[in-house]
Formats: sequence, C-alpha cells, structure tokens
Amino acid sequence: MNPIRKAVFPVAGLGTRFLPATKAMPKEMLPVVDKPLIQYAVEEAVKSGITDLIFITGRNKRSIEDHFDSMPELEAELIARGKTEMLEIVKDILPSNVNCIYIRQSAPLGLGHAVLCAEPVVGNEPFAVLLADDLIDSDTPVTHQLIQVAHACNGSVLGTQVVAQKETKKYGIIAGKSVGSGTMTVEQIVEKPDPANAPSNNAVVGRYILEPDIFEHLRFIGKGAGGEIQLTDGIASMLKSRAVFGHTYEGTRYDCGSKNGFFEATVNLGRKYHKLQVPTE
Ligand code: UTP
Repeated sequence: MNPIRKAVFPVAGLGTRFLPATKAMPKEMLPVVDKPLIQYAVEEAVKSGITDLIFITGRNKRSIEDHFDSMPELEAELIARGKTEMLEIVKDILPSNVNCIYIRQSAPLGLGHAVLCAEPVVGNEPFAVLLADDLIDSDTPVTHQLIQVAHACNGSVLGTQVVAQKETKKYGIIAGKSVGSGTMTVEQIVEKPDPANAPSNNAVVGRYILEPDIFEHLRFIGKGAGGEIQLTDGIASMLKSRAVFGHTYEGTRYDCGSKNGFFEATVNLGRKYHKLQVPTE
C-alpha cells in the first residue's frame, strides 16, 4: 500500500444534538478545555504523518478555516503585549509542511456523501478519515495505529470498539474473523442495527483508513439509514471485492457528538492534562 499522507475531516454535519450552541457555530469548534474538537483530530493526523488535511465543510463553517489560518492582527497584539507563550500557541497550531484544503458539501446528504466530495483531491491514493466528534486520548495516535495495520494487512482498516449490546443502534457494526493482535477481517458491516439483529457488538468509531476504491462504491449506493448516503453502506459494498479489516485501537474514546461524552472528555482531559479540579464543599 502507498504511503498515507491525506486525511479527510467531514465537518459539514448540522450538529443538532448541540443546539442552540451549534446554531451559528460548527460542532467541531466546541472546545474541550482550551482546544476545539477539530484541533484534537488535526493534531492526531499530523502526528500520524498526514500532510494534506482535507476538510469537507458546509454552511456556518468559516470559523474552521479561520482557526487554521494565520491571524497577523492577533499575533501583532500578542507581541506588543509581550505574551510570547500565547503567541507560540497561536502560531504552532499547524506545522509549516501541512496543507489545508477546503471542499464544500452542498447539503448534508450523509457521511458517505461527505467522503465522496473528497475524491477530486484524494485521487487514487489510500487516505484516512477522522470524525472530530470522536476524541480519542491515546499514547500512540489512533490514526497512526490504523495506518500500521493497513500497511501490514494491505487493505482498508476501520477503528473499532466493543460496545454494550443495547448501544448497537448508534453505530456501524461489523462481524468477521480475528487475525490476531486486535485485528479482524470484516465480512459484514451494518449501519445502526437493532440490538436483536446486530451481528456482533464490535462498533466502528470515527477513524478509518480507506483505499480509493471506496469512491466508486459511494457513487452508486444511494440513500441508506436515516435517508442519508452512509459510509457504512459504501464499505459494505467494497468489502465484496477488497479486503477490509477492523482494528481495536489502544486509547480512550469520548463521544463528543453527545452531551454526556463531551462532558466526560472535558472533566477527564481537564484533570489529566491541565490539573483542573472541581472544588468540593
Ligand atoms: P453525525 O451524524 O455525528 O453529525 O456525523 P451531525 O449530523 O453533525 O450531528 P447530529 O447528530 O445532528 O448532532 C458524523 C460526522 O460526519 C459529518 C459531521 O460533521 C460529523 O463530523 N457529516 C455528517 C458531514 O460532514 N456531512 C454530512 O452530510 C453528515
């Protein structure tokens, strides 16, 4: 498999679970302690060797572009006030060898459609997909873990996690055979099955390494669960002709697309990395 240098960040969803906060502000800009969710995902990708960041954006998403752009007025002000530490933080958001590319998804037609929008820039190369609302705290960046599996197995790889049976309705669920070291072949993948019909409780989370073959499948699958063009359905179609693997990554995932997961991430990361404490009476 060719080196993986491109990552797609679908950020065009409506973020309805966080209304009214997300009425005029993207969900991906919600901060966990002092960094927006999208920055955690971008840092993970950059640490994994990604140099081309492809954002699939929609309405109300301009603040994401602004966040990763330089801001000379702010930098000048911080210099004038002698706030050198803050200046470094603002200037170091992205290393200079990294490119940001923005593609507009005309309407939020689904995650599969958002990924398909990246085809003209991704071309014929394997690529990563990161959903910023899955914040994963790990020693080795999860995208790096999955890239290693993709090279070892020579196929697409989905980040997976075992979930409670009653939770299967919230995820893409896979079934297959273990090939050792936390990796399994994917023989079946279903989007949001009822617990009674779920083929397993191995859930796909927001990290993927995909071969470019996925695009031809996404083009013809049509609408699936929730009336959206689902990435899961594209993968289900692709695995008939290409090898796809699931890998149980090392790390703690916070579902920051839900209020509960977002709250937990704020408390745990605040304690772990910022020494913050909730005062007790
Ligand atoms: P979600 O379904 O979790 O995000 O999509 P959402 O629709 O924004 O959130 P809720 O459910 O209304 O609160 C997973 C990821 O896919 C992106 C979202 O931005 C999110 O990062 N997405 C989803 C797109 O980019 N385009 C779409 O059409 C749908």
